[in-house]
Amino acid sequence: MIYLDYAATTPIDDEVVETIQDALVHNFGNPSSIYRIGKKSKRQIQNARTSIAESIGVPDKSLFFTSGATEANNWALRSQAYQARKLGLGNHIVATAIEHPSVKEELAFLEQNGFQVSYLKPDSNGAYTAEAFRNASQAGTIGWVAMAVNNEVGSILPVFEIGQAAQVAGYWFHVDAVQAFQTVDWDMGSIPATSLVASGHKIYAPKGIGLLIYRPWREEMILNPLLHGGGQEAKQRSGTENTPYILGLAKAFELLKQERAERLAHYAHLAQHFKALLETSGLAIAMNGDPHNRVNNIHSIWLLGQEASRLLIQLDLRDIYISAGSACSAGSVSDSPILQAYYPEEPDRWHESLRVSFGKQTSEEDITQFVNALIQIQKGR
Ligand SMILES: Cc1ncc(COP(=O)(O)O)c(C=O)c1O
Repeated sequence: MIYLDYAATTPIDDEVVETIQDALVHNFGNPSSIYRIGKKSKRQIQNARTSIAESIGVPDKSLFFTSGATEANNWALRSQAYQARKLGLGNHIVATAIEHPSVKEELAFLEQNGFQVSYLKPDSNGAYTAEAFRNASQAGTIGWVAMAVNNEVGSILPVFEIGQAAQVAGYWFHVDAVQAFQTVDWDMGSIPATSLVASGHKIYAPKGIGLLIYRPWREEMILNPLLHGGGQEAKQRSGTENTPYILGLAKAFELLKQERAERLAHYAHLAQHFKALLETSGLAIAMNGDPHNRVNNIHSIWLLGQEASRLLIQLDLRDIYISAGSACSAGSVSDSPILQAYYPEEPDRWHESLRVSFGKQTSEEDITQFVNALIQIQKGR
């Protein structure tokens, strides 16, 4: 099997599996119970929070565990939008047009509930700037939304500059950093964002666990719970905590800290290999996304004249697993909204593009075999 879809999900690290198994068997106490085995779970969750917060560089009080990035994105956006409106600050939001559905659909929900959203397309260089956000703002603007690294084309967005400008203007700033944690070497806690989101299954932990970091710039911008109930997570996120997955997530962050430089060097090496192979392949291709600001492990390629859905089936038959542009959202292949935002005048590109994403287990040989398979498919073999 050749798996080149790490942006969709990563396999779980052995050490993460061991941590989870151990907690499943030996740590079943409810963290809210006041007897010893409950307290032990509670203590371990707090230790996990402290350890992750330290590795990201944020106060542990700002970190809330969630069921994944979808919940964290929904929660942060809805809370900040409603709170700002309640404070009489306005109801207008500026967001990129290339956000993940868990952001885009939440923004659509807000639009149905009286908020206004301006969507920014990339500029003619395929980039985003703080200037574009400023220009799209108006009286009544309350918040800005920009992901750190795009999950489909691998573009890196200037979230530091955008965040600084948001702070100066007094707007909240939401960053979906799901794909950034292991693809850029930033000090993630120093991104000037009021809300920042991560997901376990993009960093070798399981699906179904993620986190929200919430650090408002003004005190009145309190976080409002999305889930109401027993008052877990400092009364902000009710529901009995998933102790094994929280501990597994902490282990994944620990490994990320240890291995990040090595992983990044590995991706840089693989990207060079991939580029060299494509250049000599004879395939008619073009790369999608920002050509200058991009990560080394997520690549979107336009294969001119080749229907992505057909290619995916052919590759699947060869035991090679990758995605088309928009694959992971609904399990089906449709025109990619992200490619539509980048290339509004090139409809063929929307459904003739493939996303290839590398992970720490990817080898040069995997990539060579993938490119060879594309060549064979094109020749009709
Ligand atoms: C950029 C981005 N944001 C959010 C998500 C959603 O994460 P989760 O599956 O944890 O809900 C994903 C996953 O595909 C993603 O790539």
